[in-house]
Order: sequence, then C-alpha cells, then structure tokens
Amino acid sequence: MHKYLSLLFLFGLIVASGFAAEDETTTARLLVNKQVLNKYLVEGNDIVVKYTLYNVGSGAAVDVQLADNSFHPNGFELVGGQYSASIDRIAPQTNVTHVVVVRPKASGYFNFTAAEIKYRAVEDSDVVQLAFSSAPGEGGIVGQADFNRLFSSHLFDWLAFAFMSIPPLVIPFFLWHTSKTKYEKLTKSKKGQ
Ligand SMILES: *[C@@H]1O[C@H](CO)[C@@H](O)[C@H](O)[C@H]1NC(C)=O
Ligand SMILES: *[C@@H]1O[C@H](CO)[C@@H](O)[C@H](O)[C@H]1NC(C)=O
Repeated sequence: MHKYLSLLFLFGLIVASGFAAEDETTTARLLVNKQVLNKYLVEGNDIVVKYTLYNVGSGAAVDVQLADNSFHPNGFELVGGQYSASIDRIAPQTNVTHVVVVRPKASGYFNFTAAEIKYRAVEDSDVVQLAFSSAPGEGGIVGQADFNRLFSSHLFDWLAFAFMSIPPLVIPFFLWHTSKTKYEKLTKSKKGQ
C-alpha cells in the first residue's frame, strides 16, 4: 500500500514536470505598428508607409506573412515595395521593418486601416496565429492644385526676399546706366556739333 502511494506520487511528479516543460516552450508575440511617415498627403505624391514588426515574445516568430489589402488599385498606385511581405523568422526582442510607397490617385479623406499578419508563434507547432497591425486612421489627401496653391504662398516669401535683394544690385546699375547714357549723349552731341 505504501509502495503504491509512492508510485502514485512519482507519477504525479512526472506529470507535473511534463506540464512545467510545456510552460517553458517559448512563444512569439508580434506587435505590428503601421505608420504613415508623411507630413502632408498629396494627390499624385509619394506616401511612405512603414510597418514595424516587434517580437515581444520569448521565442522566434516563424513563417511571418504580412499583407496590407487596404490600398485599392483604383485609389492608389504602388510605387515602391510590396503590399505583402514574407519573413522567415523574427527572433525574440527584435524588430523587422517593411516599407511601401504609394501614390494616391485622388484627393479626399482616406481611412488607413490595419494590415494583417499571420505567423507561427511556436516553432514546432503548425498553429497559425493571426494578428493585426495598428491602424493609422483617417487622413486628408490634399489635391495637387490646392497643395501647389498652399505652397505658392511661400513663393511670396521668396519674392519678398528677392525684392529686398534687388536695390543693392539695381541702384549701382541704375547709376552706372544713367551716367553712361549721359556720357553717350554728351559725346553724341559733341559729334553732332
Ligand atoms: C522595436 O520597436 C519598438 C516600437 O517601434 C521600439 O519601442 C523598440 O525599442 C524596438 N526594439 C528594438 C530591439 O529595436
Ligand atoms: C476606419 O476604419 C476602421 C476599421 O475599419 C473603423 O473602425 C473606423 O471607424 C474607421 N474610421 C472612420 C473615421 O471611418
């Protein structure tokens, strides 16, 4: 009876250690930040979108698939990079970045929504983890003409600067020009005599 109990106890220990081993398996956890890097969003101009995949877990994330289906081809032209990315492995406590450059075809409000990420959080497991990036939210895309008008106001600054720098150049020229024509008139009238 006593022997039986200790056997049971031993069995219990083995099971417990088995669970402990299960707890120790490292798992990945990805936090994905989607960022629009531009200050101004302008129709026909490049917009840079950056995705930062940060593995805050204890294990490597494997077979990472990033897909951003939020840029409809009717609204955006893909200028650089890809809307999707495959990353074999992201080590724990490291970042991987992905960049896409798009050009909006029209002005108006646009809701920048989340990208989708799939990965395996446990290397030996086939279970696929689904995650979403942060969503930058709504942004106003300014029309090309409006943007140019906005920036042509800076042209005024330039004109003012140019205007202020004119006198030091123009006054000597003017003095030289008037004295030259006076001299020419003088020589002409002398010849005429
Ligand atoms: C990864 O990115 C996050 C958020 O952008 C940042 O806080 C962190 O310091 C970065 N870590 C490394 C190891 O680069
Ligand atoms: C933008 O899209 C997100 C996700 O689809 C949605 O929850 C949010 O309400 C939208 N924002 C606006 C202002 O439409």
